Amino acid sequence: MESAEIRSRWLCFFENGNSQGLTHTVVPSASLIADDPNLLLVNAGMVPFKPFFLGEITPPYKRATSVQKCVRTLDIDEVGKTTRHASFFQMCGNFSFGDYFKEGAIALAWELLTNPVSKGGYGFPEEKLWVTVYLDDDEAADIWHKKIGIPLERIQRRDMADNFWSMGVPGPCGPCSEIYYDRGPQYGVEGGPIADENRYMEVWNLVFMQNERGAGTGKDDFPILGELPAKSIDTGLGLERMAALLQGVENIYEIDTTAQILNKASALTGVKYGSDEKSDIALRVIADHARTSAMLIGDGVTPGNEGRGYVLRRMMRRTIRNMRLIGSHDPIMGELTLAAN
Ligand code: ALA
Repeated sequence: MESAEIRSRWLCFFENGNSQGLTHTVVPSASLIADDPNLLLVNAGMVPFKPFFLGEITPPYKRATSVQKCVRTLDIDEVGKTTRHASFFQMCGNFSFGDYFKEGAIALAWELLTNPVSKGGYGFPEEKLWVTVYLDDDEAADIWHKKIGIPLERIQRRDMADNFWSMGVPGPCGPCSEIYYDRGPQYGVEGGPIADENRYMEVWNLVFMQNERGAGTGKDDFPILGELPAKSIDTGLGLERMAALLQGVENIYEIDTTAQILNKASALTGVKYGSDEKSDIALRVIADHARTSAMLIGDGVTPGNEGRGYVLRRMMRRTIRNMRLIGSHDPIMGELTLAAN
């Protein structure tokens, strides 16, 4: 299934195509340049909706859906080496602002993931899906087990570092429940996501937004300041990861959209993808970083020495460096970014 189709299925399902009759307003992706003094770049689908969760602005709709452009550079050194780290990705999300909560979000996610492709879904076999819930979230575990029918052995509990989501900065937060797809024994050991996150690939994170957090460090070291004005839902499904699974490719660099840049880099250098691990990593880094550069430039960022400009400069520098490593000393940024879409 092409990336464009994954995106349109997502939007159709939430706009008007689910069996619960929960219509959502389709909201176009916001610019990558975050309208938030705490953030350089939009790094999650919920960022444009932050004031709605906090009750600072009354939302014009109770339910929304989007496919949001995101940049995350924290794991930049992992890019190209793992199957799933990207600096640019699109986050498919559905949002409830004081409307449906855990039960609605879980039922919607299950329906879209497991509905057959012929009926507008993604067609995942139920028995390959595992879920995690926050340590004491019996309510979510009960919904998964009793309402959806997932066996208890495929529901795992994880602590704050894994199953309590926040933006990493002060703002809305809450316990979350993640859905994982078992890619099979050739990808790692048995035992669910707590045993192996390469074999069990996270596809969808459902956040039960209910608290506001203060400043702090890391994923679990911050104060909870209080409750949000209304219990809300924020979810995120990585379009590129989904594409890797539905296109049957090994990693997110080989999906339809990103492969165009990878193939361009290969054609420009004459280095064949799949010939050796070192040049494969370089080609994947180039594909990822050139794509991110194109998206940043598209949203008006220019290379510079600080802030967003530095993020872009670093992406471009690393792209060019990796092209040099595999033998190209030509000015290639333009051609690579033309291959990005
Ligand atoms: N905001 C959540 C995330 O980014 C859905 O994973």
